[in-house]
Amino acid sequence: MQFIDLQTQYRMLKSEIDANIQSVLDSAQFIGGPFVQELEGQLAAFVGRKHCVTCANGTDALQAAYMALGIGAGDAVFCTDITMVASVEPAKMLGASIVFCDIDSRTYNLNAESLEQQVKAVLAEGRLKPKAVVAVDIFGNPCDYDAIIPVCEAYGLYLIEDAAQSFGASYHGKRCGSFGKISTTSFFPAKPLGCYGDGGAIFTDDDGLDKLCRSLCVHGKGPGGKYDNIRVGINSRLDAIQAAVLLPKLNALEEYELAARQTVARRYNESFAGKLVTPHVEEGYVSAYAQYVLLAEDSAQRDRIIAYLNDAGIPNMVYYPTPQHTLPVFQNEPFYDETFPNANDYCTRTFSLPMHPYLAGQEQQKVINAVLEVLN
Ligand SMILES: Cc1ncc(COP(=O)(O)O)c(C=O)c1O
Repeated sequence: MQFIDLQTQYRMLKSEIDANIQSVLDSAQFIGGPFVQELEGQLAAFVGRKHCVTCANGTDALQAAYMALGIGAGDAVFCTDITMVASVEPAKMLGASIVFCDIDSRTYNLNAESLEQQVKAVLAEGRLKPKAVVAVDIFGNPCDYDAIIPVCEAYGLYLIEDAAQSFGASYHGKRCGSFGKISTTSFFPAKPLGCYGDGGAIFTDDDGLDKLCRSLCVHGKGPGGKYDNIRVGINSRLDAIQAAVLLPKLNALEEYELAARQTVARRYNESFAGKLVTPHVEEGYVSAYAQYVLLAEDSAQRDRIIAYLNDAGIPNMVYYPTPQHTLPVFQNEPFYDETFPNANDYCTRTFSLPMHPYLAGQEQQKVINAVLEVLN
């Protein structure tokens, strides 16, 4: 059994993927070209944004977003405490300070009340300028944008949506990747839309930011092309082969994979209801279920379940073992010593089960039985 089964997916899409890759090989156009252009158009249309700029990975997408918004030394960037380091690593690299916020105890996403408290604390201290919020749709579940956007507006903060895990998800009919001034995603193979290596994308409705991100991703190129360097940029492009792989995968995601993920989640939810804390997806939200996350009653029970699954050869993961504010890399950030009760509690109880659109009923039943055997 696979935690995320990319081999079955490849078998399903093999003829289209192989033909597309062959076409790139025949054309010998490995950077840019028609597949990348076609993909950018289709991604923008799918998400509901005016522009999409593809790049080399989701971390670069965030770096370009932070650079395009002029984030640097003296700025405070606010971020949820439950994410992976890439959400804010590029902002830190650009000299900004990272201020973590607690999560919502039900959705594990950025808590708007904690965000506002942290913004006020930064303002009261007076040393940093509150500049941006990075909202991460964790595990594919959209953030509560109706609560977060008013805080951003009240304090003049840029909203950046890190949709690395939520491609395909939606919030009251609006797709993830369409929130904030800029949003980003990752095509890391295990993501809801993954390529066969690294890849990422930036989304915006702003013509100026689109142009700026295109320049930043190609060494700060100017109107005269890639040797007309007008600003410091990065080298971050999506390979044509990755675009060729992503096109049929995008189609599959839209046609049946998203629905299949809902079916898998529903079956887990029904089996574990009342026994473990199942994912909370608000009315009007659709999760992309990048991960299927459960909370045990305490860390001892969680560890017992994990040990049992390991013995039974059932893949499982802990996303994430520690909140971001406790990571060594962030020990000098301001307000890292806040208590973040929800994030701390979450990390002691969380574990994740196999989740992908090709999980067969029989396989899933094996996972469910194993977990229930521990609980009983
Ligand atoms: C929430 C989040 N943000 C950013 C990233 C970075 O994406 P990438 O691995 O493509 O650089 C990831 C991927 O692991 C992620 O999960």
